[in-house]
Amino acid sequence: MSGLLIGGSGLIGGYLLHYFKTKTPEIDVRAPNSKKLSLRELDDIISYFKRHKPDFVVNTAITAIRSDALLSYEVNYLGSINLARAALALNIPYIHISSAATMPPGDNLTEEDHLDLDASLSNYAKSKLMTEMTLKHMHKEYGLQYTLIRMAIVYGAHDHKIQGINRLLFNIIDRAMPFMLTKKKGVLHSYSNASKVPYFIHHILKNREEFSGQHYHFVDPEPVELAKLILTIKAYMNLKTPREIYIPYPVAKAGNNFMNWVIKVFNRLGYRAHMPAEMIFLENFYKTQTLSCEKLKNSSFIDPNPRATVFTELPSLIEYYTARWEHLNLFSSFSRQDFNLAHARKKMLTRAEERAAIFMDSPAKLLDAIHNDGIAPLKEIL
Ligand SMILES: NC(=O)c1ccc[n+]([C@@H]2O[C@H](COP(=O)([O-])OP(=O)(O)OC[C@H]3O[C@@H](n4cnc5c(N)ncnc54)[C@H](OP(=O)(O)O)[C@@H]3O)[C@@H](O)[C@H]2O)c1
Repeated sequence: MSGLLIGGSGLIGGYLLHYFKTKTPEIDVRAPNSKKLSLRELDDIISYFKRHKPDFVVNTAITAIRSDALLSYEVNYLGSINLARAALALNIPYIHISSAATMPPGDNLTEEDHLDLDASLSNYAKSKLMTEMTLKHMHKEYGLQYTLIRMAIVYGAHDHKIQGINRLLFNIIDRAMPFMLTKKKGVLHSYSNASKVPYFIHHILKNREEFSGQHYHFVDPEPVELAKLILTIKAYMNLKTPREIYIPYPVAKAGNNFMNWVIKVFNRLGYRAHMPAEMIFLENFYKTQTLSCEKLKNSSFIDPNPRATVFTELPSLIEYYTARWEHLNLFSSFSRQDFNLAHARKKMLTRAEERAAIFMDSPAKLLDAIHNDGIAPLKEIL
């Protein structure tokens, strides 16, 4: 069996690629990058399908959340629909990842709930919602075998962008959130564990009848209170901020508008700055949005790790992302010395870390060391 995965370099696509590479020898998944197969190019899709004739397609691709109307329309909507048309031509399953951005705020929302399609929606929400609608229509009209997986706030390692929960983490750790941008109680959200998605998709592929033509919410059973999550991160990192002063939404919105204005002025003066993309979702920090997972629970899928939640994964996510963002020199205020060592794993420096320290202080010494033992031909290849 061979599959086509679009978006394999992304957060969710990365988990899928790793899963199919390591756990399913019987399934060969190819994940051409967007230079080889761009969803914006119909010809790319046609020639790939002609040449490789995959047995299934998984689409986890998406353009950057702040993209303009044309790019959002071409990648998120038209590209997804063209992929589905190709899958239809070969009569193979098409699995599409969608988002809770297609839904209004609310409690225990079902798979049937969605926003009204309206010009005022953000480019991201509009393109994702239109895709949901057209896929449903293609199933009804042409019998497209598709499964749509709606994700809420996704957590997982190896995300190359700083967005969603990672933006929250980054801002708290870098002390860029002096006060609480939410309500003290009662603002709940659903969370999706990226590492479990491949198990679900593999299960869908093995049980096509049950899952074809269906939409599923793929979220942890228990929603999480935003204030509690923020305070847990703060406590884990032993930070003083954000202080427990809860900024009301109208004030936060006014502050946001003011910052947008300041940034515009700075941009005119030649400085490049922009607001984090998720500030378009500021309202969501103050409104509950929880997705029902009843349909998923009642399906034949069995959660591979029911005890994993955003709280159980938080320590490893914090360790992973602080190291990553430090390596990339992204922090302006965070310093590892301030990080409460009682929480940190006391571990010996690895050889690589030791060398990174020498790289900073004595590069000539490192050069000598590498020349002495690290540049001979790689015999393993022969
Ligand atoms: N992350 C979240 O918090 C979240 C929450 C809810 C729903 N979702 C949904 O989950 C899905 C995956 O999100 P993600 O966070 O994993 O995305 P991501 O990390 O931003 O990755 C995006 C992927 O899309 C590919 N891509 C971009 N433009 C393309 C084009 N023109 N043609 C082909 N591929 C293109 C990129 O490939 P290249 O690198 O090769 O360009 C990249 O692999 C999306 O449908 C998103 O709506 C995500």
